[in-house]
Amino acid sequence: MEKIKSIITEEISKKGYISISRFMEISLTDPKEGYYINKKPLGKSGDFITAPDITQIFGEVIGAWAIDIINKINSKTPFQIIDLGGGKGTLIKDIKRVRSNNRISYGFLEINKNLMIAQKKNFPKAKHYKNISDIPNYPTIFIGNEFLDVFPIRQYIKINKTWKEICVTVDKDRFNYCHKDIEDIILFEEHKNNFPNETDFFEINTMIKKIISDISIFLKRNNGICLFIDYGYSKGYGNTLQALKNHKYVDPLSFPGNSDLTSHINFSHVINETKKLGMNFFGPITQRNFLINLGALERLEILKKSTNSEKIKNDLEEGLNRVIENSQMGELFKVCAISPKNKLIPEGFD
Ligand SMILES: C[S@@+](CC[C@H](N)C(=O)[O-])C[C@H]1O[C@@H](n2cnc3c(N)ncnc32)[C@H](O)[C@@H]1O
Repeated sequence: MEKIKSIITEEISKKGYISISRFMEISLTDPKEGYYINKKPLGKSGDFITAPDITQIFGEVIGAWAIDIINKINSKTPFQIIDLGGGKGTLIKDIKRVRSNNRISYGFLEINKNLMIAQKKNFPKAKHYKNISDIPNYPTIFIGNEFLDVFPIRQYIKINKTWKEICVTVDKDRFNYCHKDIEDIILFEEHKNNFPNETDFFEINTMIKKIISDISIFLKRNNGICLFIDYGYSKGYGNTLQALKNHKYVDPLSFPGNSDLTSHINFSHVINETKKLGMNFFGPITQRNFLINLGALERLEILKKSTNSEKIKNDLEEGLNRVIENSQMGELFKVCAISPKNKLIPEGFD
């Protein structure tokens, strides 16, 4: 049996099951075997591809957005851009191309060793941080593209009028779902009332509260803004646990440690946590509208004019279409921003 499967099986053997959040936690971040610790998840040879690696226009318009924020904040101190879960560093590379400035430094919050090497290759001077609290105190733009979706979720289902937690058990080397009494009642009760009365299923991302809190404390102290871009929903509910392997959806329980196990973001959860902390919230807006508002179509035309190659023109068009078409990533992906209560109004959300 694969090492990671035996780690999970051993933990299940203690009480017969584990929560989905624990299954995700071991699969994704086990210190030796976890998917996000030592695999190469991104790109053609990996399991999935993200917007920055689909089209340079994504990073370029976000770069222009960031420069506008820096001008609006107009701080005399150095400014930093921190990519939350920075992947191969492509987004920051494209942002940096928009305007290079010695006053702006770049950093990554990252746990994946291979991605840290790729980021370091692109930015020898870039810093790596493990926690928000390790980041130097300067005005900061945080950007998290497909960052929130990597954190563990708990799932609940109502059976015969009683709420149960969906958990994971094992039978002959095969992981299966099972229904158990709710493990963390406080967490469940805290969220239950935010879901429609008629619902018989909901899920909670267990890290959103802490991430929003850590970022809000940082931004209140230092000024700046945090941009999140992720697949998700604001209304409705449903089972969104998913796994990607070799660019195909696979059963979430079949390849722990070897598939990208994620869930969709419930943006109303992000809004609630942000508001509780007295922060400003912008969005959520679809990725399509956000990128178009920021001039993605105009940028496409400029890039097309700069080449005589029909192939490059087609590739540019196809790349942008993939991230803005509603039938592809345009509608499913949403964008939101949080900032301290001040007069800063970020572009793109109208
Ligand atoms: C889905 S990828 C997105 C990468 C990149 N933002 C992009 O758009 O290409 C998730 C990123 O978050 C990182 N990550 C996963 N868990 C993390 C954690 N607990 N703390 C910091 N980064 C994490 C991964 O290694 C990876 O870089």
